[in-house]
Amino acid sequence: MIKLYRYTFAVVDLPRLASNVATIRDALGPDVAVLVAAKANGYGHGAVPVARAVVHGGAEALGLASVEEALEIRRAKSPLSLLVLGAINADGAVAASMADIAVTLSGSPEEIENLPTMPKPLVVHLKLDTGMGRLGLRTAEELIATAKAVVARPDLRLVGVYTHLASADDPDGRHAQGQIARFEHALASLTEAGIQVPIVHASNTAGALYHSDWRYQMVRIGIGAYGYSPNSEWPLQLPLRPVMHLYSVITRVATLDAGETVSYGATFVAPRRMRVATVPIGYADGYFRSLSNSGITAVKGVEVPVVGRVCMDQLMIDVTDVEGVEVGDVVTLFGRYSPSSWDGGNIAKCKEAQRAEWIVQTFCRTDRIGEVSLDRVAKLAGTISYELLCAVSPRVVRFYVPLTPERRFS
Ligand SMILES: Cc1ncc(COP(=O)(O)O)c(C=O)c1O
Repeated sequence: MIKLYRYTFAVVDLPRLASNVATIRDALGPDVAVLVAAKANGYGHGAVPVARAVVHGGAEALGLASVEEALEIRRAKSPLSLLVLGAINADGAVAASMADIAVTLSGSPEEIENLPTMPKPLVVHLKLDTGMGRLGLRTAEELIATAKAVVARPDLRLVGVYTHLASADDPDGRHAQGQIARFEHALASLTEAGIQVPIVHASNTAGALYHSDWRYQMVRIGIGAYGYSPNSEWPLQLPLRPVMHLYSVITRVATLDAGETVSYGATFVAPRRMRVATVPIGYADGYFRSLSNSGITAVKGVEVPVVGRVCMDQLMIDVTDVEGVEVGDVVTLFGRYSPSSWDGGNIAKCKEAQRAEWIVQTFCRTDRIGEVSLDRVAKLAGTISYELLCAVSPRVVRFYVPLTPERRFS
């Protein structure tokens, strides 16, 4: 049972996540495997629920940043293949082998030779840096030498080779095309050297969905699965919808006279007599301080601005022009507008044991009258959807729309 003493919460629509993955899977066709990037707590949505949902959408694998993240999914008994995308140390390799977790290696042949003996065969994907400048072997020659070192060890199984695209979401595709050309050259060299690798992958959401010839045997989908385009200026031509929606409930409404100020630094000065509402969500919840005096929220289906600085745990909004706003009204920070029947009074009236179910059911019944677009909020914050999603902190309670019995794929 989820106790809620502060009504600041997210609704995570797992059927929607499954449906987004299914939509992407259909667009890719049956010959391309889908790895969903579930790192950083499933882009903030909750790694284990994400792992469960994407199975329903037809994903084959999950990508995690660390062995620690992968172990959390293994413990939850996910049937999916797991690949650690980040760098690991020797202990991490041993832990991964024991838990049947594939790892990314990009060290020298000596580093491969010096790895301890694995208790169980360790599945290896080699990474080539073709222009991201972050992780990976630098040349085709280095790739071949390391691949030979991997193949020489009976306790390592070379299963994949990949690269990561730095700017596949840039409509000027030249940088990404250059990366693919370098990758192709390395793949051809690998084949010439007599090394066969069954799973080749290069594309993130942008590579996979903007460029149909960069899909190879597998793609690594992150942001698209969670309902956003990698480039908010370049919409994906697929019906993908946001999975996470962030809400809070007004705790005070005050009438300010012209000239009175709001929040730290007194950066907002009331230009007229106005009504200002306090909302118990702040930068410690993941609502960026850079949204001070610029964020947009919604109350009673009307968009209203953040006024004054965003505090650690609270922020203020200007509700002067919204009829009848009172303590208990729900504020949408991003995502679908809150249901009209969904105020703090109603939330409070629910028995604690039924609250989660009531919130989720009411969310599901809502007419989709509008949405505070996360891409828009991200732009106002000077960042991207990815960062705002990951930033939603653990103290924001997540309510999950269940996958069964009610699977809403519409
Ligand atoms: C190696 C790797 N592959 C795939 C992805 C998924 O990217 P996106 O969310 O843009 O689809 C990421 C995310 O940063 C990544 O680091």
